[in-house]
Amino acid sequence: MGFLQDVAGPLLEGFSTLGLASQVGVATATFVVVAVVLNVLKQVLFKNPNEPPMVFHWFPIIGSTITYGMDPPKFFDENRKKHGECFTFILLGKKTTVYVGPEGNNFILNGKIRDVNAEEIYTVLTTPVFGKDVVYDCPNAKLMEQKKFMKVALTTEAFRSYVPIISDEVTSYIKRTPDFKGQSGVVNICPKMAQITIFTASHALQGKEIRDQFDEKLADLYHDLDMGFSPINFMLHWAPLPWNNRRDHAQRTVAKIYMDTMNRRRARGEDNQKDMMQHLMNSTYKNGTKVPDHEIAHMMIALLMAGQHSSSSTSSWIMCRLASRPDVMEALYQEQIDNLGKDLPPLKYEDLAKLPLNQAIVKETLRLHAPIHSIMRAVKSPMPVPGTKYVIPTDHVLLAAPGVSATDSQYFPEPHKWEPARWQKDHPLAPSIVRNEDEINEEEEEKIDYGYGLVSKGSASPYLPFGAGRHRCIGEHFANVQLQTITAEIVRAFKFRNVDGSDKVIGTDYASLFSRPLEPANIYWERRN
Ligand code: HEM
Repeated sequence: MGFLQDVAGPLLEGFSTLGLASQVGVATATFVVVAVVLNVLKQVLFKNPNEPPMVFHWFPIIGSTITYGMDPPKFFDENRKKHGECFTFILLGKKTTVYVGPEGNNFILNGKIRDVNAEEIYTVLTTPVFGKDVVYDCPNAKLMEQKKFMKVALTTEAFRSYVPIISDEVTSYIKRTPDFKGQSGVVNICPKMAQITIFTASHALQGKEIRDQFDEKLADLYHDLDMGFSPINFMLHWAPLPWNNRRDHAQRTVAKIYMDTMNRRRARGEDNQKDMMQHLMNSTYKNGTKVPDHEIAHMMIALLMAGQHSSSSTSSWIMCRLASRPDVMEALYQEQIDNLGKDLPPLKYEDLAKLPLNQAIVKETLRLHAPIHSIMRAVKSPMPVPGTKYVIPTDHVLLAAPGVSATDSQYFPEPHKWEPARWQKDHPLAPSIVRNEDEINEEEEEKIDYGYGLVSKGSASPYLPFGAGRHRCIGEHFANVQLQTITAEIVRAFKFRNVDGSDKVIGTDYASLFSRPLEPANIYWERRN
């Protein structure tokens, strides 16, 4: 006691002689030091053996947010080496448990509905952008029905009509875009691919009438909707900030454009369109209710937004990768000449299957650059991790990162090398055990119907760029058709290389929710004659 008084007395005396600003500074510094010390002691002294190991961090709340946010794959890799496949870190004050590898993917993505929940995590971000009563603003059973409506519209017959639409959009874009005028030039490829993606997707999925409006006002409105997807909105989605006001205005305006279009179609007695909107207008829920117009409008927004970021990031990566490997771009051109004919006739849906390297480009690019690096779920009841003593409590969030197994040397020799040819049989870099849907013996793979058709559980696959389980992507086939057609058309039109002629590839921008190439991602292009 006497000692404490001896030390504390003079300290307090000294403190009282400071000015107000200095007092506030000293108090804050003391508070931070105490918080750091307590936080460190808690981690060292109170380890819970029934929970996965915690990634060491100095500051409470901030935890590992910054190291994770700067480079999530690097963060996963380093901590997997230290702690194994299952570990916990603090993300914005929340205990977030990562479980990587095929077992981790299965544990999280095929988790039971009573155990894991996606909508609780995503709704704050998605509902203001998509609108009410769809996707994560409704019970999961309703989402499963909505996914079924949308998936059923994505038929082979529909894809057959999409390929010429996508081809035309790409060729006419190249013709009219000033950055592609002349015989050669340098272009920041990301904004170009973003535009090509929205023009091709809106035209194919939503029809010509909606596509035409993208040249006028829809592009700006979708841009404003997009701003609602910035990570900061996980916390500030409700705030009356300028970008949120623009988001809300854009949501109402875009939804009205779709609803007006539906009304016009009805007034004209049109019901022969083959697009998604018409299909949804003819859909009925299991309980006999026809899908209301506002839900159709909101699903149309959701479909376009869900695909936009992933497809546009992937197509940008494809172009950056081709620029770093002109040899592959030449091989793609040769593949088209060999398999489709010297005169390169207009592309058809059936042609895509004749271009295995073109298909492998998309596959390999998604292996290294899956746009969704972290898939999150809220934990609804304590979840024992099989084969361990861990039980994940309900105050944790689960995080699946299928990209980790996709870049694991256990499955993919020289995992960080972009080598599309590895997807061809007997290539020296062929994946050792890749069991994705195309290559699996039907009877061998466990399939499941979550309410939107049979899907493989993906439990054994280290390669899941489209996710797995009840929230698995329904846009996979559309994305493949879209990306393969865009790639084939670009290959016909151009030769690419890096501006400095090197084989370097630009770094990844993780600042938004979907990872994509850092900008400017400049590419040197030269027109083929
Ligand atoms: C879900 C990836 C393109 C529509 C997902 C998920 C992934 C994914 C990983 C699962 C998310 C989760 O479990 O939380 C991709 C990639 C794409 C792509 C890599 C392109 C390269 C598309 C396209 C569409 C689309 C073009 C629409 C036509 C959806 C929808 C869901 C989904 C509706 C369901 C969300 C849910 O059930 O919670 N996608 N996607 N995606 N995707 Fe895609």
